[in-house]
Amino acid sequence: MAFLEVEDLRLAYVTDRGLLWAVDGTSFSLEPGEALGLVGESGSGKSSLALALMRLLPRNAHGPEGVVRMDGIEALSLGEEEFRRRIRGNVISMGFQGAMNSLNPVMRVGHQIAEPLMVDGGVSKSEAHAKVRAMLEMVGLPTEVFGRYPHELSGGMKQRVVIAMALVRDPKLVVLDEPTSALDVSVQAQIMNLLKRLKRELGLSLIFITHDLALASDVCDYIAVIYGGRVVEIGGIEGVLRRPSHPYTEKLLASAPKLRKSEQPDFIPGAPPDLLDPPAGCRFSPRCSYATDICFAEDPPLFTVETGHTAKCWLRQDAATEAAD
Ligand SMILES: Nc1ncnc2c1ncn2[C@@H]1O[C@H](COP(=O)(O)OP(=O)(O)OP(=O)(O)O)[C@@H](O)[C@H]1O
Ligand SMILES: [Mg+2]
Repeated sequence: MAFLEVEDLRLAYVTDRGLLWAVDGTSFSLEPGEALGLVGESGSGKSSLALALMRLLPRNAHGPEGVVRMDGIEALSLGEEEFRRRIRGNVISMGFQGAMNSLNPVMRVGHQIAEPLMVDGGVSKSEAHAKVRAMLEMVGLPTEVFGRYPHELSGGMKQRVVIAMALVRDPKLVVLDEPTSALDVSVQAQIMNLLKRLKRELGLSLIFITHDLALASDVCDYIAVIYGGRVVEIGGIEGVLRRPSHPYTEKLLASAPKLRKSEQPDFIPGAPPDLLDPPAGCRFSPRCSYATDICFAEDPPLFTVETGHTAKCWLRQDAATEAAD
């Protein structure tokens, strides 16, 4: 049994126009020390998936439904109190999207990192402070940062604080939602190096959320490409980058600027699907240059393109059938 198993996870929001399924049947698994990248454009449901795993959802959430097993525990069937005590913070923890810009401006950084340890972890103040100093060191910050306020730190330092907060209770799995999107490229590279080191040294499992496939490939072992609330392609990093098997993944790769090539980056025509009224058939079909009749009519299943690599595209049906022969 894998350390994290997610089976057919679904989550909707109740809106004036009906139910909006932001996570619409997602399955994957993860082992200790492995990193999965969730990649997709804005509104594809990446944060919703992460918040469903954390069970931190807005009031209008409907669900989550499905199975989430963490460390052998059925996380969705636990009561809220038990989930808080046994899972959130010490099995799974999260650095939220935009968190580096929403640190409490009037509270010293060290106290902010210590808070979850004392409030949820039941650790004494002196123990918590010692742990915070160790965490600051672990994420590459001088211990004097303990006494500083957020506005006294650079963006990169604030992001390190967010990572320290996520790690402070020694979770086995950390979800980082767009941890480097607000940073310039050189600081981004330093944070990526930090994540690689933490993954290696702590044997940490990581779910890394980004819209940037190239960035995800830097730290991740697996990539799940999300489109319109669904995983459209998932597989090992090598396979997904070298043999992208869903037209949306192909477009994502082609839309990245290329430094040394003269060709212009491609763009993805059309707009992301309206999740309150998604297109029939494959959700990418209105934007797909390969789409045929079946694509507009029937939603494809995930076809296996190679071991551990699947794509939700009718184009892969023949290859998959051949592979099974
Ligand atoms: N509380 C809510 N109520 C209604 N709809 C919501 C709510 N939160 C998110 N949504 C919708 O759910 C969909 C998925 O949103 P989500 O924030 O998970 O996407 P995302 O992939 O994280 O996007 P981004 O890259 O911009 O962070 C979007 O259509 C969004 O508008
Ligand atoms: Mg998001």
